[in-house]
Amino acid sequence: MGIHVWVLRIPALLQQAKAGEKVTDTDGIDPRSNAVTSKESQSEAEKWELLQAEVARCRKCGGLCETRTQTVFGSGNKNADWMLIGEAPGQQEDLQGQPFVGAAGRLLTEMIRAIGLSRDDVYITNILKCRPPGNRDPKADEAANCRNYLNRQIELIQPKIFLAIGRIAAQTLLTTDEPLSKLRGKVHSLNDTPLVVVYHPAYLLRNLADKKKAWLDLQFAMQTYREITN
Ligand code: URA
Repeated sequence: MGIHVWVLRIPALLQQAKAGEKVTDTDGIDPRSNAVTSKESQSEAEKWELLQAEVARCRKCGGLCETRTQTVFGSGNKNADWMLIGEAPGQQEDLQGQPFVGAAGRLLTEMIRAIGLSRDDVYITNILKCRPPGNRDPKADEAANCRNYLNRQIELIQPKIFLAIGRIAAQTLLTTDEPLSKLRGKVHSLNDTPLVVVYHPAYLLRNLADKKKAWLDLQFAMQTYREITN
């Protein structure tokens, strides 16, 4: 009848991106352009799906996109008050496509329980969405390449509090080279939102004596959250 109904085929685009195919629209319109749908009129779900598809096909870091099994986007509650940001996927995360699923991930789950929450209550992601080979530290240019993805996740979630998981995440997010000992126990700010630094669970697995300090950090984070939400 001459009536055109525009349907965004985002799940299909995500599948294409995951399969490493060039993502195209059957109408030849770049799905990232505003031609069909302006950014404002995209639903939150569409924005998430497009962002995840963009990450899945990212090739900004020459080395990492060659060595990764897959990208690790993030997991959890997209309306969470708490956003937890780690450093980068490790081997298990690279294989499973989910953040913090190895031994350190199991301890992180316990740490989340210690603040009275479950993994489904918080959103977890990393500075880097690809595993650095051999779990080496992320390079500055890799963190910079990935930053826009993290910023867009933050913009969509609009958390009430950030937890920076470990030294690398804390130093990258706060653009500082201060040691973790100086960064913990303070309320920092990221995008006008409080940020608390906690020990990385992988570090705690190697340094059991610091578990008591880790518990204090989590209590401090809970107290900070209560103060901002009461
Ligand atoms: N360490 C991190 O920083 N992130 C993960 O996802 C896993 C281990």
